[in-house]
Amino acid sequence: MVNASYMIHVTVVNAQGQFILRPTGTRFTPHWIRTAYHDMATHDITDGTGGMDASIRFAEEQARPENAGDGFSNTLNVLEAVSSRYVSIADALALGAIMAVENCGGPEIAFRGGRVDAAVPNQPGGFTQEEMIGLVACGHTFGGVQHATFPTIVPDLQDPNNVDSVAHFDTTNTHFDNNVATEYISGTTQNPLVVGLNETTNSDKRIFGSDGNATMETFAQSSDLFASTCANLFARMLDTVPNGVQLTEVITPLPVKPNTIKLIYDATTETIAFSGEVRLWDVPANLSRVLVFCADGGYGDVRRRGAKRRGPDTRIPRADVAR
Ligand code: HEM
Repeated sequence: MVNASYMIHVTVVNAQGQFILRPTGTRFTPHWIRTAYHDMATHDITDGTGGMDASIRFAEEQARPENAGDGFSNTLNVLEAVSSRYVSIADALALGAIMAVENCGGPEIAFRGGRVDAAVPNQPGGFTQEEMIGLVACGHTFGGVQHATFPTIVPDLQDPNNVDSVAHFDTTNTHFDNNVATEYISGTTQNPLVVGLNETTNSDKRIFGSDGNATMETFAQSSDLFASTCANLFARMLDTVPNGVQLTEVITPLPVKPNTIKLIYDATTETIAFSGEVRLWDVPANLSRVLVFCADGGYGDVRRRGAKRRGPDTRIPRADVAR
């Protein structure tokens, strides 16, 4: 499982030679969500081609004007590494987007596996207008617009705490909430795609206002409605796959999962060392938590029933969790 919540930092050395972290204003989590959307956005509802199939990894797609920015290559560098013959890049991308939303305090999103990676780039596709208002608002609760990629939208902010000069979509850009809607409706928004000086690039303003702000009003009034709408829209977005691809049932994580378990026999001391990690899912962090591994009678025991034990007990323990 990949950890979706870390930020990109630039590491520099101060005058004392100590490493310090310089915030760039850029985050990985919005990159992953944006990459998933742009991969899905090639879906063509008329012929069923395109969708979540990792075709965004092809240089031809990344060169299109709507796919400007380094977020796609950043995402693929991380997620391609966790894909394998069993987990497609498209599945890793879907899971990465889900982890990104959830780790930023967003709603739980159902995950299904089985996406198939495209062998060639897709043609550009489209979504309906109504779905777009919701999806754009859900996506643009994270991150923002980078000066380097869009210098005509965002000036160089000259901010040492935001060296990438990212103009964020709302005041809580690392957190999932409905501020993108409340700030838009109250007229306090600094969203660069709403209040940008260049009207032609104010795409959020056009999309959010395309139904007379009706959808954004409902999002601003209820954070619960916003969260449940986004959970549905994100799931639909991630489950938009080319015709013929069969997704699995919803996959839920195991609550307790042993990881990198090792049982090493040391012939010199004739001892067996047991080590490993346990991943707990949806359990509040507690650094003083005690994990107790207990032997489960007969589990992995190579002795015959009733045989007299000789030498050390080699039974493989079963993990139990003490809270
Ligand atoms: C027509 C619709 C859309 C337009 C015109 C649009 C435009 C943009 C632009 C110009 C950026 C700045 C990218 C950069 O600076 O690298 C951006 C960022 C972003 N977009 Fe969209 N977007 C649209 C729809 C969506 C949707 C549907 C989602 C997700 C469901 C989404 C998620 C994001 C995220 C998370 C970011 C932040 C990236 C970051 O901080 O690096 N966008 N969008």
